[in-house]
Amino acid sequence: MLSYEGVTKRYGNVQALKGVTVEFQPGRIHALLGPNGSGKSTLMKMAIGLVKPDSGSVRVDGIDPVEDPISARKVVGYAPEEIVIYESLTPAEYLSFLGYVYGIPKEELEPRLRTLIKIFKMEEHMGKLGGELSHGNRRKLLIMSALIHDPRVLILDEPFSGLDPEIARVLKELMRKYAEEGRVVVFSTHILELAEAVADEVTIMHLGEVVAKGPMEELRGKKDLETYFLEVTGLTSELEELLKAL
Ligand SMILES: Nc1ncnc2c1ncn2[C@@H]1O[C@H](COP(=O)(O)OP(=O)(O)O)[C@@H](O)[C@H]1O
Ligand SMILES: [Mg+2]
Repeated sequence: MLSYEGVTKRYGNVQALKGVTVEFQPGRIHALLGPNGSGKSTLMKMAIGLVKPDSGSVRVDGIDPVEDPISARKVVGYAPEEIVIYESLTPAEYLSFLGYVYGIPKEELEPRLRTLIKIFKMEEHMGKLGGELSHGNRRKLLIMSALIHDPRVLILDEPFSGLDPEIARVLKELMRKYAEEGRVVVFSTHILELAEAVADEVTIMHLGEVVAKGPMEELRGKKDLETYFLEVTGLTSELEELLKAL
């Protein structure tokens, strides 16, 4: 379980989170939806202690990532939105290094790595330098890095960005398997169609607050998700105003 209780975060003049209380239950695929700047990435980074709340608390499988970021990182597989990789390491070197950091025994790491390489079709790219990888392959490497230690909680920030349709399909299946195994699966997106196609549960953020949360069928039942999304984020009236001014 991943839970947030009254979490706030300010960066300079920007109040990025305004008291978020939300839970992500295991066994479900959760989409975190919201326009750019609504606070999705900030919320996700808090699960491994990359960003600390100004007030409120975060718990991941009972662990407080502020007090114990190392334990949190063992439980959570996190792939950031922005692609940061080691340009001078090959994916093979980087993933082996991560396996070592996580303390995964070699006899577990090697078969797991072989499977991940096959799943993400990275056979041809494992010996290239990070700096030589295409955008899509960098994204795949980030996701593989999040999966290497068999995490109980999977947090993927905009994971479909830059993935080709075949790998996007693979990732959807993988997320489904993880949820079926009773893990927590959360991914962020600003693309409604993706959330509709993949998620069981939707949490909609806007301006640092959770403005709607519920099972996909329930939210979709109200009207189509796009209309609902635009309404709860107040973007319908904004868009109408802008179109009028055009
Ligand atoms: N490191 C940072 N320094 C300053 N402002 C930031 C930083 N990270 C995020 N923000 C601001 O906080 C708000 C929320 O950002 P973010 O969590 O990245 O939202 P999202 O992922 O939904 O686009 C935005 O206004 C963003 O500009
Ligand atoms: Mg983001």
